[in-house]
Amino acid sequence: MSYIPSDSRYDSMLYRRAGRSGLKLPAVSLGLWHNFGGVDALENARKILHRAFDLGITHFDLANNYGPPPGSAEENFGRILKDDLKSYRDELIVSTKAGYYMWPGPYGEWGSRKYLLASLDQSLKRMGLDYVDIFYHHRPDPETPLEETMGALDYIVRSGRALYVGISSYTHEQTRKAAEILKELGTPCLIHQPKYNMFDRWIENGLLKVLNQEGIGCIVFSPLAQGMLTDKYLRDIPPDSRAAKPHGFLQKDDLTAERIEKIRKLNNIAAERGQSLAQMAIAWVLRHPVVTSALIGASRVEQVDDCAGALQNLSFSDTELKQIEKILEE
Ligand SMILES: NC(=O)c1ccc[n+]([C@@H]2O[C@H](COP(=O)([O-])OP(=O)(O)OC[C@H]3O[C@@H](n4cnc5c(N)ncnc54)[C@H](OP(=O)(O)O)[C@@H]3O)[C@@H](O)[C@H]2O)c1
Repeated sequence: MSYIPSDSRYDSMLYRRAGRSGLKLPAVSLGLWHNFGGVDALENARKILHRAFDLGITHFDLANNYGPPPGSAEENFGRILKDDLKSYRDELIVSTKAGYYMWPGPYGEWGSRKYLLASLDQSLKRMGLDYVDIFYHHRPDPETPLEETMGALDYIVRSGRALYVGISSYTHEQTRKAAEILKELGTPCLIHQPKYNMFDRWIENGLLKVLNQEGIGCIVFSPLAQGMLTDKYLRDIPPDSRAAKPHGFLQKDDLTAERIEKIRKLNNIAAERGQSLAQMAIAWVLRHPVVTSALIGASRVEQVDDCAGALQNLSFSDTELKQIEKILEE
C-alpha cells in the first residue's frame, strides 16, 4: 500500500527561521549519514522517513559520501522519495554536500569548482532530483582559494541546481570570509552545519557570534554525540548500536568510564525534567536562538518519536543549566 502522510503532520513541530533568510526549518531535522546505506535495511529506512515526515520533520540531510558504500544513502533516499514522497517534494527540504573523498584522482574531494559541480550532478542523479534545497561545502579546503569554492556555490544556485547554499565545519574566521564573498556574489550563505553537543562545544568560542552577526542559520549535527547522550550505553554496548557496528563512526573507546559517569548524571537531570536524556540533549542545543535545528540520526522509528518529543520541554531553569555545566566540567 502506498504511503499517505499524517494529516496532523504540522500540528506539533516547531519551525525556526534559518538566520535572516526566508526559510524555516523544523527544530528537529533528520540526517541520513548512518542507517540509510546499502548495508542497511531499506524497509527500516523507509519507515524512519515516513515517521519523520508524519511528525513534521520536513528536512532530510544527505551528503555524496553517506552510505556505506558512498552514494548509497542518496540512492536509497531517491528510491523512497520516488516511491512514497514524490508528490510532497514542495513540502521537503533536501540537502546534500560535497567536500570529502568521493572518487579517485585530484577532482574527487575538497573544494574545487570542478569537484563541486561534478559531485552535485552525481548526487542529483542518485536522488532522482532536479535540484536540492540546500547544497553545502562539507569541509574547509586549505588549498583551494575560498573565492573559487564560494564562486562554485554561487554558480550552483544560479544554474538551478540548488536553492540555497551552506558551509560545514568552517571556523568562525573562515565563516566570516566565506559569508563576505557570498554576499558580494549575491548568493547569501543560508546556513552553517557544525558539530555541537554537550561533549563538543567548539562553536561557543566565536562561531555562534559570527552566525548571529551575519544572519546565518545554524543546524547542529550529532546533538546526541552519536548516541552517547542517550541512556543506551549506561549498562553495556548493545550489539545493534553504532558503537558496536564495524562501519559506525563511534568508537568503543569513546565510552570511557568517566564519560559513562557523566552520562549517568545527565540522565538523572533529564529524568527530573520528565524527559529522556536524548530529549534533554536536543533541548540543550536548541537553547541558543541562533541554532535553527538539531540534526539527529536514527536507527529506528521509536528514536524519531523520542527525539521529536524534546519539543515538549525546551526551557531550562538557571539551576538546571548550572547543574549540567558542573557535570560537564567535572
Ligand atoms: N556536516 C558534517 O560533517 C556531518 C558530520 C556528521 C553528521 N552530519 C549530519 O548529522 C546527522 C546526525 O548525526 P548523528 O547521526 O551523529 O546524530 P546523533 O543524533 O548525535 O546520533 C544519532 C544516533 O543516536 C542514536 N539515537 C538517536 N535517537 C535516539 C534516542 N532517542 N534514544 C537512543 N538512541 C538514539 C542512534 O544510534 P544507534 O544507531 O546506536 O541506535 C542514532 O543513530 C547525520 O545523519 C548527518 O546528516 C554531518
